[in-house]
Amino acid sequence: MPAPSPSPGSPLSRREFLSTSAKLGAFIAAAPYIARGAEVGAAPDADTIKVALIGCGSEGSILANAARPIPGIRFVAVCDIWPYALNSTARRIKAVFKQDVQAFEDYKEMLATVKEIDAVIVATPDFMHAEHTNAALRAGKHVYCEKLMSNTVEGARSMVQTARETKKLLQIGHQRRSNPRYQFARDKIVKEARLLGRITNISGQWHRAVTDDFGTPRGQEMTAEKLAKFGYANMHEFRNWRWFKKYAGGPMSDLGAHQIDIYNWMLGTNPQMCIASGGVDYYKTHEWYDNAIAIYEYPTKDGVVRATYDVLTTTSAGGGYHEYFMGDEGSLKISENPKYTKLYREARAPEWDPHVASKIITRPETGEGATNDLKPWDKPRKRLTMPSKVPTGPAAAGGAAKVDVRETAALDAFDLNATLGDKAIHQPHLENFFNAMRKGVALNCPAEDGFSTAVTVLKVNEAIAARRLLTFEPGDFKA
Ligand SMILES: NC(=O)c1ccc[n+]([C@@H]2O[C@H](COP(=O)([O-])OP(=O)(O)OC[C@H]3O[C@@H](n4cnc5c(N)ncnc54)[C@H](O)[C@@H]3O)[C@@H](O)[C@H]2O)c1
Repeated sequence: MPAPSPSPGSPLSRREFLSTSAKLGAFIAAAPYIARGAEVGAAPDADTIKVALIGCGSEGSILANAARPIPGIRFVAVCDIWPYALNSTARRIKAVFKQDVQAFEDYKEMLATVKEIDAVIVATPDFMHAEHTNAALRAGKHVYCEKLMSNTVEGARSMVQTARETKKLLQIGHQRRSNPRYQFARDKIVKEARLLGRITNISGQWHRAVTDDFGTPRGQEMTAEKLAKFGYANMHEFRNWRWFKKYAGGPMSDLGAHQIDIYNWMLGTNPQMCIASGGVDYYKTHEWYDNAIAIYEYPTKDGVVRATYDVLTTTSAGGGYHEYFMGDEGSLKISENPKYTKLYREARAPEWDPHVASKIITRPETGEGATNDLKPWDKPRKRLTMPSKVPTGPAAAGGAAKVDVRETAALDAFDLNATLGDKAIHQPHLENFFNAMRKGVALNCPAEDGFSTAVTVLKVNEAIAARRLLTFEPGDFKA
């Protein structure tokens, strides 16, 4: 059932349309997850969901701020082992959110004491995700856990199994999946209109400049005994956990996880092999590879898709971060940063002609001396009229869909370069989680999907260490 699109002059605003589309998309996608028996629509109080946060560091604060504007969300407890982070977050929630939270060092005490908690947000270092998530699920709470689901496959698998056993919702924090631009790109551009034709290759990157390690504010150090109690070697590793093997999966898991998740999500499948190269090339004080380059091979019904991904320590001019889906008729470069997003057409894809008026689509240079330099238009127009899915020929028989533009229907205008307005990038994913609790809509990144992504991402580190091609067995993606 396609999402309805307002006809020209429709009274639906763009915001309403997006919300309607997103809901319908979520509804359509809901069936398999609901069928798995998750307890949904179970927020005990229809008006207020009472939330606890475990991990009050950088991302925990971002998530709290992103959740704040969502109606009916109230923080009732926060937990962190570091008093500096715990106290500042509790103070802010009380003073700015005007919500009365209790603060805990020990998550077990929090779960045992604050009975009214409905949902727990986990934003601790990756090696603690399984312990915190499993405990919260077993205490009867729904959980939103940050990515990477876990730094080990076993940890991630245990989380899927606990969510299944407890019939509680577990959303993994791959927030691009709830971003309306990403949803439009996948559902309308790639799947429905097939504007890229057959996707043959993907590339993606996160290139960033060298940064200093995190320090500790004066007087905020924890004692060696306390650090050891929670598994940290020292204050430096506690603050810079993402670079150490015991606590995290390195930049591939820290940054690559977001984007490689989108490879799996866009193609609707998992890879069959991985080869990679990387090393600790730059930093002297880190364990994890600071440069890593991976190649995956995805089997799809249209044929093999080869995908490269690299996360590099370089300069700020290294091209930033994006995912680039390349087909035989067009290419889509998409990023969480809207300014990097571009849609290109191939000159020999005539059915695109009616849509080239929309300047978000770029014509490649053709003819003598053409460089095929796919430079973007300077000012993308706001409106993009897309063809509807009118499969002809083999599409009807389940083959590749081909769009007949003579039968196009205007979908609503959608600006691929649009920002989320006043919403933080995490807000739609949190909204999806709370809507799953309240209304039973499908999670956009349920535990099973987070698990597949963790398996896909962690294989890169394994392949770098092994210095050889590694294959995935279909069973690897089952939890
Ligand atoms: N979705 C995104 O865009 C995004 C962005 C950044 C980070 N993250 C994820 O968020 C998580 C946190 O990352 P961060 O950047 O906020 O790290 P951070 O170091 O800033 O914060 C982690 C917090 O967890 C606390 N903590 C550590 N061990 C704990 C324990 N045993 N119990 C309770 N609290 C504990 C620390 O004191 C710290 O305050 C990671 O999983 C990371 O991958 C996601």
